[in-house]
Amino acid sequence: MMEPQLPIGILDSGFGGLSVMRAVHAALPHERLIYAADCGFAPWGDRTDDYINARVDAVVNFLVFQGIKALVVACNTATAVAVARLRSSLPIPVVGIEPAVFPAVRETQAGKAGVLATVKTIASSKYCRLKAQALAWAAENRPMPVEIIDAPCPGLMECVERGEFHSPATRALVERYVRPIALAGADRLVLGCTHYPFLAEEIARAAGPQIKLIDPAPAVARQLGRRLDETGARRGSGLGACTFYATDPTDARERVLKTLWNDSAVLRPLA
Ligand code: DGL
Repeated sequence: MMEPQLPIGILDSGFGGLSVMRAVHAALPHERLIYAADCGFAPWGDRTDDYINARVDAVVNFLVFQGIKALVVACNTATAVAVARLRSSLPIPVVGIEPAVFPAVRETQAGKAGVLATVKTIASSKYCRLKAQALAWAAENRPMPVEIIDAPCPGLMECVERGEFHSPATRALVERYVRPIALAGADRLVLGCTHYPFLAEEIARAAGPQIKLIDPAPAVARQLGRRLDETGARRGSGLGACTFYATDPTDARERVLKTLWNDSAVLRPLA
């Protein structure tokens, strides 16, 4: 039995995981949450496995040292590379996130769904397996053939990290990645990187009204709730305080955090 009063650790390469933390905080409002962002060493999405594993370990060690009862890997890239290893080495529940390919394949009426993710996520064997399983399910259960259109999106997470949600450069980059998917006739678009929900307005604008965006964050929060119940670790009352840490916590980064979370959020050094 895990101690319910302990906090939950949530990690990402930067501030993208706040889109998952937002869903966790809404679904489990009594839980104390510690967010750890590796801003000083981001992005992770176009690095080697060795780099990502080393950075994930540094951040996980910090969170474990805080005494957490569960870990949320709020990063599709880190989940693809490191979640299996973390699950076998940590004595606490570890919840990851992966592109919501199954919901997209189930829901598409056009038979075409796009996936926006990092270069690393799309190249990973975990994602290739997930896609193969989803397409095999579709071949059995859907009346029409289903196609998944992958779009690796280098540079997009950096727009969020800089707090540029609507700049001309951000809009141009979003259009470059999203327009081909819209032109191919897709009607579902998976946000396969936790940074992208913060660009949802621009993504929806570039995609057009026929495309529905899919963000798996609420499903991650539900899965975390189930794991806490299984281990008797759910905190049933009290204020769910949230604290934030980052490598290289500059004033500019704290301003972005305040925009993405709220004005009272303070960014502390992750060391
Ligand atoms: N937010 C991350 C993800 O979900 C990674 C962004 C990056 O560091 O490239 O994949």
